[in-house]
Amino acid sequence: MAVEPVLTIEDLRTYFYSRSKRAFIRSVDGVGLQVRRGETLGIVGESGSGKSVTALSVIGLIDAEPGVITGRVGFRVNGTEWSLLPSIGDHVSLAEEDGRIVEVVKDNRGWRRKVDRLMHGVRGREISMIFQNPRVSLNPFVTIGSQVAESVLLNTGIRNRREAAEKARYWLEQVRMDSPGLRFAQYPGDLSGGMCQRAMIAMALSSEPSLLIADEPTTGLDSTIQSKIVELLDDLKKAVGVTTVLISHDINVVARLSDSVAVMYGGTVLEYGPADRVLSPDFLPKHPYVEALLESIPSERHIKDGLLPRAIEGEVLDTVNAPRGCRFFDRCHRITNGIEEKCRDLEPDLAEISAGHQMRCWLHIG
Ligand SMILES: Nc1ncnc2c1ncn2[C@@H]1O[C@H](COP(=O)(O)OP(=O)(O)OP(=O)(O)O)[C@@H](O)[C@H]1O
Ligand code: SF4
Ligand SMILES: [Mg+2]
Repeated sequence: MAVEPVLTIEDLRTYFYSRSKRAFIRSVDGVGLQVRRGETLGIVGESGSGKSVTALSVIGLIDAEPGVITGRVGFRVNGTEWSLLPSIGDHVSLAEEDGRIVEVVKDNRGWRRKVDRLMHGVRGREISMIFQNPRVSLNPFVTIGSQVAESVLLNTGIRNRREAAEKARYWLEQVRMDSPGLRFAQYPGDLSGGMCQRAMIAMALSSEPSLLIADEPTTGLDSTIQSKIVELLDDLKKAVGVTTVLISHDINVVARLSDSVAVMYGGTVLEYGPADRVLSPDFLPKHPYVEALLESIPSERHIKDGLLPRAIEGEVLDTVNAPRGCRFFDRCHRITNGIEEKCRDLEPDLAEISAGHQMRCWLHIG
C-alpha cells in the first residue's frame, strides 16, 4: 500500500506586487509537490528560484504583502486533513488602467488573522522549522535548556516543568550537544554557531512534529561544522524518521539526505523525482538545467576526468519578465532546430517521463 502524503502542494502561486515596476514578481509560479510520511523531499535551485517562498507560503509566514497567493496546501496527519492556504480573494482588490493592473490593495491584517487562525496548533507543533542563522532565531536572554523546555510545554502534552526540562535534556542529547548538561544552563551567546543550530534542531524536534521544514540549515556555518550538521541530520533521519522538506542550494547536502528532489528555477519546478535519479549525473535523461547545475559543482566525475566545474552561464531568471516559452531558454545549450520554436514560445508542462519522475523540457516530452 502506498504511504500517504503528509504534505500536498498543488499549483501554488505566490506573486509579490512591485509598485515601482507596476508588475508582479512571480516568486512561486505553479508549484506542485508531495511529501510522503517518513520521506525527505529536497528542494534545490539557484538563489532566487523560489525555494524559501514556497516553504514560507506553506507555513503562512509570508511577511510582506503577496499580491497573489493561490493553490492548495493540504496537510494530513492521522487521517485528518488541514487546508493550510486560505483564499486571498476576499482580501484583495485590483485597480486597473487600460487593462493593466496598476495597484493591488490588500487587507493584509484580515488575511494574516485568517492565516494565523488556520495555523494555530499546526505551526511549531505539527510543522516545525529550522532556518539559516540559528543565533538570530534563538532568544539571547533565555538559556538553551529553558528555550527547549518552553517549546516542550507549549507544543506537547507535557505540562509539568520538571518533566519538560527532562525532555529538553533528552533532545539536547539526541542532537549530540557536547556536554548537554552544561549547555542546558548556557545562553545562545555562549555557544558556537554549530551548537546553536543543534539547539534549534532540538527545539524543532521537541514537539515531535509530523513535518520538519529545514531551510538552508547548514548555510552560513563553516565547512567542518556544516558536514557535522549534515551527519547529525542524517543520523536523526534514521533514528527519528521525521518527514522533512529540506531546502538547500548545496546539492551535495540534498543528495545525501533526500529521498526525492525537486529542482526549482524561476518559480517553477523543472525536474522532480527520486534523488538518486535526479541528482546522479549518470542517470539519463537529465533536464538541461539540472545537467548544468550538476556540472557546476565539484564531483567525483570531475576528479576522474580531470575537468573543472563550470558555472552556469547567464543570469538567473527575473520573474517579473518571465518569457512566454521555457524559462531556461536564454541559458540553455541543448536546444535543437526541431524544438527551438516551441522552446521560445511555449512553456512545457511538468510531464511524467517515467514512473515517479517528471521533467519540464521539450527535449523529453512529446
Ligand atoms: N517579500 C518579497 N517581496 C518581493 N519579492 C520577494 C519577496 N520575497 C522573495 N522575493 C523574490 O522572490 C524570488 C524567490 O525568492 P526566494 O527567497 O524564495 O529564493 P530562494 O530560492 O530561497 O533563494 P536563496 O537560495 O537565495 O535563498 C526572488 O526573486 C526574491 O527576490
Ligand atoms: S524546453 Fe528547450 S529551452 Fe527549455 S530546457 Fe528544454 S531544450 Fe532547453
Ligand atoms: Mg532561500
